[in-house]
Amino acid sequence: MKILVVGSGGREHALAWRLAKSPGLQKVYVAPGNAGTAREHELENLPLSDIEALADYAEREKVHATVVGPEAPLAAGIVDAFRARGLRIFGPTKAAAQLESSKDFAKRFMTRHKIPTAKFQTFADINAAHAYIDAEGAPIVIKADGLAAGKGVVVAMDVAEAHAAADMMLSDNKLGDAGARVVIEEFLDGEEASFIVMADGRHALAMATSQDHKRLKDGDQGPNTGGMGAYSPAPVVTPEVHARAMREVIHPVIAGMKAEGIPFTGFLYAGLMITPEGRIGVLEFNCRMGDPETQPILMRLKTDLTTLMEAAIDGRLNQVTAEWDRRVALGIVLAAAGYPDSPRTGDVITNIPTPTENAVVFHAGTLLQDGQLRTSGGRVLCATALGDSVKHAQKHAYALAHSVQFDGCQMRSDIGWRALK
Ligand SMILES: Nc1ncnc2c1ncn2[C@@H]1O[C@H](COP(=O)(O)OP(=O)(O)O)[C@@H](O)[C@H]1O
Ligand SMILES: [Mg+2]
Repeated sequence: MKILVVGSGGREHALAWRLAKSPGLQKVYVAPGNAGTAREHELENLPLSDIEALADYAEREKVHATVVGPEAPLAAGIVDAFRARGLRIFGPTKAAAQLESSKDFAKRFMTRHKIPTAKFQTFADINAAHAYIDAEGAPIVIKADGLAAGKGVVVAMDVAEAHAAADMMLSDNKLGDAGARVVIEEFLDGEEASFIVMADGRHALAMATSQDHKRLKDGDQGPNTGGMGAYSPAPVVTPEVHARAMREVIHPVIAGMKAEGIPFTGFLYAGLMITPEGRIGVLEFNCRMGDPETQPILMRLKTDLTTLMEAAIDGRLNQVTAEWDRRVALGIVLAAAGYPDSPRTGDVITNIPTPTENAVVFHAGTLLQDGQLRTSGGRVLCATALGDSVKHAQKHAYALAHSVQFDGCQMRSDIGWRALK
């Protein structure tokens, strides 16, 4: 059996690594992949990213099933294209992916289905946006409607910053089409967690909980990034919060999307804000797994991932369960010099430890050039390890991360601090 993973980041390396452990699997193709996926012998990179070219390949090579890592191909309709050709694929259709690709769509959907989220309004007109900001006051959150690769949200602590953010998106077009409309929403206070499930259109299977660290610097300071580290489980998601998230968010989303004729299939990621009283508000949906949350989550997955994916594609997620390692998994991102603004590429990477069952350095922005491993993107690697406690997982993952070397490497030294409180 052959499986295809679409994408090139740490999330895709982790997906491919986990899928490759499935019994009966011959090959996991990763398109386009990275130097890490090129190195492992059960994996093979394909220099493809065009949707039709991927579908041609899957058809010709009799690929059994495809799973898509990033949002861009999903929003571009890769699932629709594969299904139209009778190819098995796990992910949402273009219409269902609007839960991520349009924040306005997601907010209106949540309103229709009474899913808890911050109060909001959507604007295309800058004057109306300014008036709303003045009427609501700060703190307030300004969000580009469309996909903005993590650069589309400004949490404004004062009104001047909010006006400037609205101007940046609506008047100066700094985010292009993605910022042609903005959602302006109420500021929610609390602790964030990532709640990810697999969905088959009718049922949802919860993955282990996780939390990530978005800011570049220790203590959650500095600029926003794609994520500097993550761990699983997230202690903030108590059994009560978990039950609440399933009841108030996940089940209504699955039922609501089905009722609206756009059933959701694929990984569904709810970004939750959890108040000190255990109430939850949805900050956003992603229609894929998170990066770097995927790396620690999949390190804890004991059930065969291919079996779960098969069940999801066949619409029988209600018949399977996922078993998780009771230990904590923690992943630390090693980023390039200059990340996130202007990451430097081409630095030589050395001393990556050999992977074990309990510790893997997943690749993201890496490239093999003339036999040398080099940096090729902002987030370069994610050192991920298991431990009996958060402290142990942290110690183990940092030992792994510190053994790797490349010039200008940036990493936080406090990944997991919220779970240690
Ligand atoms: N309503 C809100 N209240 C407080 N913080 C928010 C709110 N919405 C978003 N944020 C913060 O901004 C970050 C990015 O927002 P999010 O909606 O997840 O957009 P994206 O991931 O597409 O950039 C969140 O992780 C959270 O820290
Ligand atoms: Mg987010």
